[in-house]
Amino acid sequence: MLIACWSAKGGSGTTVVSVALATVLARSSPAGVLLADLGGDVPAVLGLPETSGPGLGEWLASGDSVPADALSRLEIVGPGGLHVLPTGSLTATSATAATGEPSVGGAGRAEVLAAVLAADPRPVVADCGCLPGPGLPVAAAASVSLLVLRPCYLSLRRALNAPLRPSGVILVSEAGRSLGRREVEEVLGVPVRAVVGVDPAVARAVDAGLLPARMPRGLERALRHAA
Ligand SMILES: Nc1ncnc2c1ncn2[C@@H]1O[C@H](COP(=O)(O)OP(=O)(O)O)[C@@H](O)[C@H]1O
Ligand SMILES: [Mg+2]
Repeated sequence: MLIACWSAKGGSGTTVVSVALATVLARSSPAGVLLADLGGDVPAVLGLPETSGPGLGEWLASGDSVPADALSRLEIVGPGGLHVLPTGSLTATSATAATGEPSVGGAGRAEVLAAVLAADPRPVVADCGCLPGPGLPVAAAASVSLLVLRPCYLSLRRALNAPLRPSGVILVSEAGRSLGRREVEEVLGVPVRAVVGVDPAVARAVDAGLLPARMPRGLERALRHAA
């Protein structure tokens, strides 16, 4: 199962939701969870050292000479049963180029990536970052496509003009906002799958690179049935 998390505006909480959701899923997946980082911030949230090695960008740019299963050699073992596919030198241009030219008798490289991720026997969470961007082809191919959204007018406006229609919304909600679950569902026409509160304990765990180990209860509870 390929679950894509994406946003229409930076700073929405997409990476935090992606990592938290992957961590929750890994608790009931003996083989762990694959976390594809198309946004670039996953190692920082997991407290992993920054790598300069190859990642999804290089795999996408490599063309058909590199077999699809080479993807598994890029995986980095993270905490809590998470296996991370790092971003590498992924740019909007490399991903668009990869979608542009279908190879002989086959799909474009980005579609191949989406297909390989979807076929993985483990649950796969893709942090597709802010769209439009390099994560778009993977988000478009996901069986579950989750828009991470702050319930404010500016975010909602962007979400309405997003290049994709999500299958559900994860609301990252602050107290005192006038827009809530009902308004978001009404405007976007898709269900809110979870409401995650803005919580200083989440921000502290993220800043310390300890989110999987110190997952705040409320975040875990909110995301348990999100996918
Ligand atoms: N539920 C939350 N509670 C508190 N802070 C949060 C929460 N979600 C995200 N943040 C903070 O907001 C910032 C942006 O989150 P991030 O996941 O990087 O957003 P995005 O990936 O959409 O750009 C981070 O500093 C993070 O710690
Ligand atoms: Mg991010």
